[in-house]
Amino acid sequence: MADTSYYVVVTRPILEVALQPLRERFRVYVHDKPAEEGPLTEDELIAIAHDADALMTMPSDPVTARVMDACPKLKVIAQHAVGVDNIDLEAARRRGIVVTNTPGVLTDSTADFAFALLLAVTRHVLHADRYVREGRFKRWETMLMLGMELKDKVAGIVGMGRIGKAFARRALGFGMKIIYHNRRPTNPTDEYLLSARYVSFEELLEQSDVISIHTPLNKDSYHLFDEKAFARIKPGAYLINTARGAVVKEDALVEALKSGRLAGAGLDVFEHEPEVHPELLKMDQVVLAPHLGSATVEARTRMGLTAARAIIAVLSGEEKIPNRVV
Ligand code: GLV
Repeated sequence: MADTSYYVVVTRPILEVALQPLRERFRVYVHDKPAEEGPLTEDELIAIAHDADALMTMPSDPVTARVMDACPKLKVIAQHAVGVDNIDLEAARRRGIVVTNTPGVLTDSTADFAFALLLAVTRHVLHADRYVREGRFKRWETMLMLGMELKDKVAGIVGMGRIGKAFARRALGFGMKIIYHNRRPTNPTDEYLLSARYVSFEELLEQSDVISIHTPLNKDSYHLFDEKAFARIKPGAYLINTARGAVVKEDALVEALKSGRLAGAGLDVFEHEPEVHPELLKMDQVVLAPHLGSATVEARTRMGLTAARAIIAVLSGEEKIPNRVV
């Protein structure tokens, strides 16, 4: 049974429609640290969550073993995101704390945004916008901001999960050829429907005109794109990252862009988020975004409701916990 004495802490304001089911059942506190003060620190998280039975967390929250030890009543950490790399999963497992996430509900929004970055970077959309606003548009030019057409180009997808496949569907619609790399090949039906060919990581680097990253961050994907990888990419390729910043070694990325080996990059995530490499800020061939992949009303509504549903399931003692990671 739901228990109104349970205390739920939500670390950032989320859409009210998703808080409603929690407020109807439990005591709920929504923390609202001003954005200009940056992400929550471990100590701040402890200060707001030490009494919590359930915690709804965001990708920037450092949910460490120390935080868990300081929250002795904690039964569930419901991540309001699909990636859970900010949570010490092993520590949660050892302490019997359930961890859940929100897969499947932000797939299309994230793939849309990856494609928005791809079009923005290959067609100089932001650079063009600045050009017009600065009053520099004086006549139609034949050589101005020439970009790359997507039709018949090779899209290389790293991480062929839900979002990677959604990106592939969009790329296919633009007439691109699809290759992908994943821990193992995806099912033959999806390969057929997406006309997608499994290749080694090295082949993907060498053949792709556009590389889009959709892999989770873990010990295998950390710095997957390093100097060695950038030395192998097809000269003039573009890189899109809407996954996690640390999949890319940012220093190596900057060098690849500076040398022109990489023609451009669309980045929604950063290695030391929210900090951005200062060199990237100066580059016109780079489009930057503040981690907006799932930022649509539709996706954020579903993410909030999904995380809330998991908290309700755990605190109500339901047997089946949806979207359980640990
Ligand atoms: C957002 O970054 C997510 O992992 O859902």
